[in-house]
Amino acid sequence: MTSTPADVHPAWLPSAAWRAVGVRRVHVRGDGPLVATARDEVRAATAAHGGTVVDDPAAADLLLTVDPAVEGDEAFVVGRRDRVTSVRAAGGAALLHGLHHVVRQGDDALGSDRADERHAPVQPVRMLDHWDNMTVHPVMGQVERGYAGGSIFYADGRVRDDLTRVEQYARLLGSVGINAVGLNNVNVHVTEARLLTDHLDGVVRLAGAFRPHGIRVYLSVSFAAPMTVGGLPASDPLDPDVQAWWADAVARVYAAVPDFGGFVVKADSEGQPGPFAYGRDHADGANLLARALKPFGGTVFWRAFVYDHHQDWRDRSTDRARAAHDHFAPLDGRFDDNVVLQVKYGPMDFQTREPVSPVIAAMARTRLAVELQVTQEYTGQQRHAVWLGPQWSEILRFRLWGDTGPTVADVAAGSADAPAGGVVAVSNVGDDEFWTGHPLAQANLYTFARLAWDPSADPVALLDEWIGLTFPDAPPSVGDTVHGILDGSWRTYEDYTAPLGVGFMVRPGHHYGPDVDGYEYTPWGTYHFADRDGIGVDRTRATGTGFTGQYPAPWRDVYEDVTTCPDDLLLFFHHVPWSHELHSGVSVAQHVYDTHWAGAARTEVNAAAWERLAGQVPADLHARVTERLAEQVRGAHEWRDQLCTYVYRHSGIPDARGRRIY
Ligand code: GCU
Repeated sequence: MTSTPADVHPAWLPSAAWRAVGVRRVHVRGDGPLVATARDEVRAATAAHGGTVVDDPAAADLLLTVDPAVEGDEAFVVGRRDRVTSVRAAGGAALLHGLHHVVRQGDDALGSDRADERHAPVQPVRMLDHWDNMTVHPVMGQVERGYAGGSIFYADGRVRDDLTRVEQYARLLGSVGINAVGLNNVNVHVTEARLLTDHLDGVVRLAGAFRPHGIRVYLSVSFAAPMTVGGLPASDPLDPDVQAWWADAVARVYAAVPDFGGFVVKADSEGQPGPFAYGRDHADGANLLARALKPFGGTVFWRAFVYDHHQDWRDRSTDRARAAHDHFAPLDGRFDDNVVLQVKYGPMDFQTREPVSPVIAAMARTRLAVELQVTQEYTGQQRHAVWLGPQWSEILRFRLWGDTGPTVADVAAGSADAPAGGVVAVSNVGDDEFWTGHPLAQANLYTFARLAWDPSADPVALLDEWIGLTFPDAPPSVGDTVHGILDGSWRTYEDYTAPLGVGFMVRPGHHYGPDVDGYEYTPWGTYHFADRDGIGVDRTRATGTGFTGQYPAPWRDVYEDVTTCPDDLLLFFHHVPWSHELHSGVSVAQHVYDTHWAGAARTEVNAAAWERLAGQVPADLHARVTERLAEQVRGAHEWRDQLCTYVYRHSGIPDARGRRIY
């Protein structure tokens, strides 16, 4: 329980969250840097709460022991007998996991007797990617799609001298089992390309801040680095000079950071360089880097987010949703065993509602990681309170082959033909005093990490776990109110924004606020095709782009048929008349009116409920959330009025309840 700088919010590790552990007599047995971290935590907790660290295990009522007999690198066994709670763990990382498990359980783990329980992560890779840049972009800011201030890693074009915040962040992440962090933006600019070389000393220091918490660091690299950094004439993956350049660069990284994780790569995507320039495919590209990393045990996370971002809106045959599957499915079986294909959860781009990407079902012989977005690019940008636990849970539990098949999480956790790839997400943290801009967005970071550990966990239970840790001494009204605001907030946001899976409708560029036709005539491939008769994208095999055919049964047929397609995704898969009747019994037009009025109204209820907590939570936190909820109310009403007006003007269908349309 090391301390958090006074001006930074302690998130889910305030001193009071350690009370149950801190009042005990604790014995920690084992060696190594991670055991030392656990011991330091226990020492600080007991110093704060009146317990003691004891040398004699017989005198302890909480025993934390490294025990090589426990199987599984990160596994621990916890139980309580004869008034002693014991955690036995395979190694240092597992011991730290076990300690934090006890902290989360509090008096439950330290009260009455409990049989031994074994805990181990379902996903061996639980990763957060930072889209941090070393310099500040005039439009995007320092963190691409960052809504919590600048980077905690970099300032003035280099790694920060003072890494106190990074150490605190590493501690928070380690406490919930994150074990990998990507240090820089997937769009790799000139300065950041040199993290591999000129700034390697900074990477060494960042790795040093994460290491005591069991977290390995990764770098996003540019496919063109042999040219831009190395001065070679090309970066063709089959060119021996290029191969030698990467081998040499990687060897230097490992000499400096022996536990370096590997690379994250965005290639041939939104202007990033890649193998296509040389007539090579993405297996050639990924394997180039994989072979350089292989001798050191490193991994390449190669992103599948590849599509044509120079599309002609008049071209109805190209469908961005198809792109990842079209590019990657034919390459199944060609990737080296230290390549992980990192697939966004949906076929488009982190929308509020998308079907699960069919790529996840198409690559049985490829290691796959699922990529989620904790930073709320399209889900309110940490100005709106939108807790995404239920979205991620739904995705991770989704069964692409129907009821009896594996879940998305099962695919990520690996099989006999393809070892685990894991679960990855884009981080939502910056140098903001509350870490995440909106203090309640801390719940997203927490829930992501806990779901990555166990994708079958009930997200609502995780929400309450987070509330209990974050507001340990608050009256019950605080927990009830925060629960009331966040549980259901994903649906609320969906209700007042783009309807029925159609997506986008955001202002181009920054992606905040409504602009129904903002992307309609752009090259980005994100269209809704609304006219006076109807709306939606025909992605059927029968009459549309054929995207439904990328799914295995039963979904290829469920989505194909407008009568079986779920309402939530109707406009993702079908173009229908405004008068089309949903399974819910109302027309598409009426659905837009009803959901938008209901969603906007709920934001007002939330803001009023929070107002009543004045004096029950710290004043600065209360003020920040108040300001954000007010903006959410404003934004939701703007969305409501724009969507309802748009639908009325296009369809001519009046709202059956006669509410105001502009
Ligand atoms: C989105 C986002 C970009 C990001 C990209 C990616 O398109 O708007 O900022 O670079 O996703 O995931 O690579």
